Amino acid sequence: MRSTTLLAMAVPALAALDLLENLPDTGLDTSSWIVGQAPSINGLVDANDFQMAAKNTLSPQNYAYYRTAALDEIGYNANILDWAKLKLNGYSFTDVSNSNIKTSILGYTFNAPFFIAPAAQAGLASGGAESNLAAAAGQAGILYVPSISSTQSLETIAAAGSPGQVMFHQEYIWSDTNRLQDELTRMENAGYKAIFLTVDNTGVNGIRNRYQRYSPGGDAGHSADFTIEALNKLRSMTSLPIVPKGVKTAHDVKLCADLGFPAVYISNHGGRVVDLTPTAVEVLLDVHRLYPEVFGQIEIYADGGVRRASHILTLLSLGVTAVGLGRSPMYANVYGQQGVSKLISILTQELTTTMALMGQADINGFRGNVSYVSPPSKPHR
Ligand code: FNR
Repeated sequence: MRSTTLLAMAVPALAALDLLENLPDTGLDTSSWIVGQAPSINGLVDANDFQMAAKNTLSPQNYAYYRTAALDEIGYNANILDWAKLKLNGYSFTDVSNSNIKTSILGYTFNAPFFIAPAAQAGLASGGAESNLAAAAGQAGILYVPSISSTQSLETIAAAGSPGQVMFHQEYIWSDTNRLQDELTRMENAGYKAIFLTVDNTGVNGIRNRYQRYSPGGDAGHSADFTIEALNKLRSMTSLPIVPKGVKTAHDVKLCADLGFPAVYISNHGGRVVDLTPTAVEVLLDVHRLYPEVFGQIEIYADGGVRRASHILTLLSLGVTAVGLGRSPMYANVYGQQGVSKLISILTQELTTTMALMGQADINGFRGNVSYVSPPSKPHR
């Protein structure tokens, strides 16, 4: 009887926590984890560990909401796997005794070149929801950009930050312009300093089969005729700087620069909108080839599959100012603020360590220095 009970406990644990997530095997031992319970945070040493811990802890439906992506998830998987197509190298005979990863984003100084990207429904992971993310970002001095589809109100999230903490806010291109105006005004009144305007959900949401098995999804009020005229009209609805997010072609990066935006955010929405989209690296390589002048005109942010310092340094070397983290902080939030803080400190330590070992301790020395990165066809100089 006793052994039957033990067996009954062990089988679902193995079945639920499959490791088929395209994650690198770094020796994480999940054999003592109990499904439905958060494993000890002490055993987690990298961002991928937090994904497995969230998968073990959350209900299958809530985990699927965070993890899901469009159609066959080939774009999602490319974000995760394509880093291996590049090489990252550095230099010997340099002084790396003074580490600096402080980063200016739209004129505000933050303690790291990575930020917490907008992601909906943090409340699925923790009762503290987005407030945990705001508090952890504030404590670490990094940027957090809450989603307009958050569990908590934008005012509640603003209030959860530290005194003087700079946050930006994400907005969607709602077809209801009254809603748009109301939210933009509230963001300004709540003290957010810039708007990340997500422009890749035109008319409908992406079809995400992994989550569709629990809930149908579909249109959530996004405008289907968001032309350049609509974009220009929206710019007159707020005095805050606007950064178009979800740009996925070199053409549109150049267009945003020419339209006078202060920054542009290259993203395929973590593979959640259109499948088979290029990764941020691929878009950046196109920008280098077609419109290299853009790097001097405008700040560029990017995200998608960023789980490691090596990914951050790759994007920075290709000319990006700052890098967004989507799913990882949502997974870490299973442990509340403590989890998000631990994720930030893991990435910070990975970053300073990797930089020192690459012979460049100043983050500004990476930005736009393509000699640190080798695409397959290009040798290191
Ligand atoms: C998102 N993302 C997103 N983007 C946005 O502009 N507004 C939003 O409300 C959301 N919501 C959202 C929910 C969830 C659960 C995820 C995972 C993502 C996209 C997000 O900002 C970011 O572009 C990607 O998540 C980056 O990819 P990684 O880091 O998740 O691989």
